[in-house]
Amino acid sequence: MKKLLLLFVGSLFFISCQETVKETMITTASEHKNEVVEAIKNRRSIRSYKPEQIDQAQLDTIIDCGINAPSALNKQTWEVRVIQNADLLNRINSSFVEKAKGKDLKGSASRSQEPGFSVFHGSPTLIIVGREKNNPTSFVDCGLLAQNILLSAESMNIGTCTIGNMASILNDPDAKEFLKEINMPDTHEVAFGIAIGYKNESPEAKPRDASKVQYIK
Ligand SMILES: Cc1cc2nc3c(=O)[nH]c(=O)nc-3n(C[C@H](O)[C@H](O)[C@H](O)COP(=O)(O)O)c2cc1C
Repeated sequence: MKKLLLLFVGSLFFISCQETVKETMITTASEHKNEVVEAIKNRRSIRSYKPEQIDQAQLDTIIDCGINAPSALNKQTWEVRVIQNADLLNRINSSFVEKAKGKDLKGSASRSQEPGFSVFHGSPTLIIVGREKNNPTSFVDCGLLAQNILLSAESMNIGTCTIGNMASILNDPDAKEFLKEINMPDTHEVAFGIAIGYKNESPEAKPRDASKVQYIK
């Protein structure tokens, strides 16, 4: 009889614990409140940066988050170069401005001939991501690496902007010297750049089209 009573009380305790867990999960899901979700929802492409360099320890953590991204067969098909050399950054930008002359470019690049234009929005650090040319999964690998960089940076209130235009500048046959200068192996080409620095603007979120998502149950 005593054993039966103990079993009954135990079961009641177990059921009440389960209910608490369920309630916590529902609350969390409906409020969408956790640090990762916050970083995803708050991240915006930043196109104006403060001139001061970001803290090295923060940058190291951000890069470490980048290379902790998943990659197919863990091949880590990326090459990552973190450029803070002002002279090299100026030359990369001038090269873009020169090549953009007379071209009908879209987005911020449409202002390439205006004084003070910067293809990486004047960020004091520019990350160049190289992808392995002969590996089709490298596009996905590098994209995942980039998103880890973007989100970990956002979690520290550091701004970022993916710069696809970097590929057009640095993969041009006459840009081989740049690739040599940043030690990019012949096996790789530039996938994109990432501007990174302390934010000097707080843009609004751009709209997203939820109709592109369908649940098939
Ligand atoms: C592959 C890729 C290339 C991009 N290239 C550029 C670029 O060259 N210059 C730029 O200012 N933004 C660039 N962006 C940023 C997009 O314009 C931006 O992500 C998009 O407008 C959505 O805005 P959000 O990032 O603020 O949510 C690029 C983004 C991606 C994913």
